[in-house]
Amino acid sequence: MSRARTQADPEAIDRSLDKASIEHYERLAAEADRHLDQLAAQAPLKDTTLEEQLRRRGISRREFLKMTAVMTATMALPSMFDLRVARAAELATRLPVIWQELQSCTGNSMALIRNSNPGVDELLLDLISLEYSEVLMAPSGQAAEDVLEAAIEKYRGAYIAVFEGSVPMADNGNFLTIGPAGHTGIQIVKHVAENAAAVIAAGTCAAYGGIPAARPNPTAALGIADFLNTQRINKPVVNLPACPVSSTNVVGTILEYALFGRLPSLDAFGRPLWAYGDRIHDKCERRGHFDAGQFVEGWSDTEGLKKGLCLFKVGCKGPMAYNNCGVVRYNDGTSWPIMAGHGCIGCSEPGFWDTLTPFEVPLAGRVYPIPFGLDSDADTIGAVALGAAAVGIAAHAGATLVKSATEQRAAKKSEAKKEQ
Ligand code: SF4
Ligand code: F3S
Repeated sequence: MSRARTQADPEAIDRSLDKASIEHYERLAAEADRHLDQLAAQAPLKDTTLEEQLRRRGISRREFLKMTAVMTATMALPSMFDLRVARAAELATRLPVIWQELQSCTGNSMALIRNSNPGVDELLLDLISLEYSEVLMAPSGQAAEDVLEAAIEKYRGAYIAVFEGSVPMADNGNFLTIGPAGHTGIQIVKHVAENAAAVIAAGTCAAYGGIPAARPNPTAALGIADFLNTQRINKPVVNLPACPVSSTNVVGTILEYALFGRLPSLDAFGRPLWAYGDRIHDKCERRGHFDAGQFVEGWSDTEGLKKGLCLFKVGCKGPMAYNNCGVVRYNDGTSWPIMAGHGCIGCSEPGFWDTLTPFEVPLAGRVYPIPFGLDSDADTIGAVALGAAAVGIAAHAGATLVKSATEQRAAKKSEAKKEQ
């Protein structure tokens, strides 16, 4: 059984459990207990403790448990995991992490360190043993290389490697060289990944090549999983796409690793199901307007923009994109693209820059008529509009809705026949 729903409401998850699910989660809980006991038997890698970090931030134990309960729900786990997730956060001082910057804008690192409120994300990032991060560490040049080598040597086979950015393959990798010895991205990723326990590709560039890999892809940029395949390096990789990655999804993935000693269940594009199991469109605060056929008609439609109407006609790709950004949001949960008034550009989808453009208009330049009236069934509007829009793009989004429209038509026909 996999966790395919993005949820941030602990009670909703508990209410949805049937007998088989409860048994499944009880088995998972026993697995988590075994792994957490193993982690507890290891020596901490950092001098700090959870208590110290809580005291430093003025957070009570009770507030901390509330935060971890929300994190548990975000990871689509029921409340029987609340205390286990809290324990995993506490034991994070046993987890060595190496964060390697590649061909990127550093936006993912920035997103992680821009949290200003004391949340579980920031707390965990202070508790894990971040052994190497060019952006955050003080040493540079040869001293930084020495830190990296020492960390790989000390934690060989035990650390989590987080990569940010793509790997340029053209010109023998010389589009990206790092450090005084001029090692290429190719050499660095091979070295860091093949000695890691597991790999996290943080952000869309690391996951799928991102902007650097957009046509004509002058540096022949690859995402980490594709790169490791070319090198026949067989490591578990989790993709956490988005531009930038959400700190909650990085932290949730690390917590899942602490809980179970393995990476989360993934979708077809290597993304955790708990974070990328739902379409943007299904969790969007403007969905009511979409269902009612109320759209911003163009960028000069200031009334529609002020009213917060649906952004589909000005290019929102929310019906084709999968991510939990509408639930966890950015900047301490303050906002996210659609809330800020711009449609989703599908930044968490493979090849989004080439496949989901043009960003300011619906795909194929169509403006969809809304022939169903304000009271029409939501899925009917969504299915027909998206059925037209989804041609040639992320097949899983389109396929689901086209299928649902076909099923609805078949059901209506059969009802009509019965009435006759
Ligand atoms: Fe939200 Fe975009 Fe869907 Fe409209 S089309 S409901 S703005 S995700
Ligand atoms: Fe990206 Fe769309 Fe979310 S642009 S951050 S997936 S709203």
